[in-house]
Amino acid sequence: MDTQALRKKYLDFFVARGHAAIPSASLVPENDPTTLFTGSGMQPLLPYLLGERHPKGTRLTDSQKSFRAEDIEEVGDNRHTTFFEMLGNWSLGDYFKQEQLPWFFEFLTKEVGLDPNKLYVTVFDGAEDIGVPRDEESIEIWRRLFGETGISNGFQEVGSEENGYKKGMEDGARIFSYDAKKNWWSRSGVPDNMPVGEPGGPDSEVFYDFETEHDSSWGEHCHPNCDCGRFLEIGNSVFMEYTKTGKGFEKLAQKNVDFGGGLERIAAASANESDMFLAVDSLSNVIKHLEEASNKYYKDDLKSFRIIADHLRGAVFMISDGVRPSNTEQGYFARRLLRRSVQYADTLGIQEGTLVEAVAIITDTYKDHYPELEERRTEIERAVGDEEARFRATLKRGLSKLEKVMLKHEGEVGNQKEFEKAIPANEVFEVITSDGFPKELVAEILEEHGTKTEWKEVEALILEHKAKSRAGAEQKFKGGLADHSNATTQLHTAHHLLLKALQIVLGGHVKQRGSNITGERLRIDFSHHEKLSDEQKAEVERIVNDQIQAKLPVLKTTLPRREAEALGAEQEFGQKYPDIVNVYSIGPAGASPDDPRLDESFSLEFCGGPHVSNTGEIQGVFRIKKEKASSAEVRRIRGVLE
Ligand code: ALA
Repeated sequence: MDTQALRKKYLDFFVARGHAAIPSASLVPENDPTTLFTGSGMQPLLPYLLGERHPKGTRLTDSQKSFRAEDIEEVGDNRHTTFFEMLGNWSLGDYFKQEQLPWFFEFLTKEVGLDPNKLYVTVFDGAEDIGVPRDEESIEIWRRLFGETGISNGFQEVGSEENGYKKGMEDGARIFSYDAKKNWWSRSGVPDNMPVGEPGGPDSEVFYDFETEHDSSWGEHCHPNCDCGRFLEIGNSVFMEYTKTGKGFEKLAQKNVDFGGGLERIAAASANESDMFLAVDSLSNVIKHLEEASNKYYKDDLKSFRIIADHLRGAVFMISDGVRPSNTEQGYFARRLLRRSVQYADTLGIQEGTLVEAVAIITDTYKDHYPELEERRTEIERAVGDEEARFRATLKRGLSKLEKVMLKHEGEVGNQKEFEKAIPANEVFEVITSDGFPKELVAEILEEHGTKTEWKEVEALILEHKAKSRAGAEQKFKGGLADHSNATTQLHTAHHLLLKALQIVLGGHVKQRGSNITGERLRIDFSHHEKLSDEQKAEVERIVNDQIQAKLPVLKTTLPRREAEALGAEQEFGQKYPDIVNVYSIGPAGASPDDPRLDESFSLEFCGGPHVSNTGEIQGVFRIKKEKASSAEVRRIRGVLE
């Protein structure tokens, strides 16, 4: 079944059940400055989930164009794409679990024709700390649905993902319960990370079993949430009935269903083809075209073909929604997608012009459902063609610079000319940064010529360069530290103590929303709904000053982001972090760089520093000078060391 037909089948199915079909919103969110792209079906419908009346009623269905920029580097395996369509059906205070789960099951097994034996489901295991119990109702519904088909319908409590890898799947188990990390959905993830006012709720996911061999490099045993590739999540029913308040979780005025299903993932399941790039027509059509243009086979260079097909499609959709390649905001991503496409096309020996031809293939595939693609086809082709020409010129300049550098390091060996064994890292770094010449390409060219460079050193130089430009950007936005002077550094460490103290006194909902630190004072914006009492302020000051007097070690540790997240390190709101991060911990007494004891620390934050090395170096007594509202549900504190 092609994806265009599958989309129609889905929309028709829900229209027949009383839903109004609504068009996809733009990839560029309107009136939402918090995010650059629409990345899920619920973003454009947020006001209606919170109670506003939708003009089309309380049952809606759609297929939402979505783009996840954080997945750009992941593209290359058989399933990751940056652009995808999320099928949605919505109950805005209308039906709930008893309708939603049977409908989706019916759609998958009767309409798409999936074998129920290949489906596995997960439900929310409950979380005491937020007072939301295990989703027994969904468990019962799933038991009945699987039971009616005459196949196994056992339930297994899993809890954490780690536990899944440890225990594996029990015989006959079909329904699995996981904790909030896996079966709770909100725009900001787990309950702890949700700001006040954000809606969310337990969810129930359906997985398709490709029955491939388990790859134990992911963990000892396979289970539905294992990442080895055997199971693919194809749809998620979110029972959005909660919202976070200053005092914990409360029920929303209405019970909503937010269902999101991957159109292409369901297509892949229906073809029993785990490679999305073969299963999905819009991608496989582009790949065929690239094979012809390059005289190379997809199977021989999966990564290059996948990156071009995914990125080009993403760029086409962005441009059709009005984005133009540039150096900022959405335009930056359009440019990045196109430049990466050209780079990989170049490595496949694909000539200029082929990508523009592929635009037509993409628009032809989608034009019935997304007429804007056909309407703007000339504009899209021009934008792609212009960007390709510009980037090919950059590649040429970079290549000639690199050749010059290499020639400088050419010598006579016997009576043959040869390049030196290694080219100095700083010269390679210059070529990469001065013109945006891609480093993968540099590596390839060096290798072709039998030479190399010290890549670790090049990476370090690039990181340093990035850090410098980021520091520049922070100054521009007046956030962060004014300078790295001793007084500012002391207040920076006090700032970490203060955030933790606020969480202790006011509650775990307190999150940093902004900060600004000079040598004279610190300022913090944080989520909280009401004015602090004098008692609360005094208590916060006392906690901060106690930690100063306790002379606690302050340590910087570099570790994988996932580990830092698992430890509950504080993140900056809206910030995207790389895979390896720095955290600063304060305390416990006796912690050392060799044994930082992060899980026992008083405060733990994602942070680049600088900080004092011991809280005892903080001079003076911490005082809150001002406390006031900064915006809705956000308070601002000014504090000093006296
Ligand atoms: N909003 C849910 C998701 O994006 C359906 O997974």
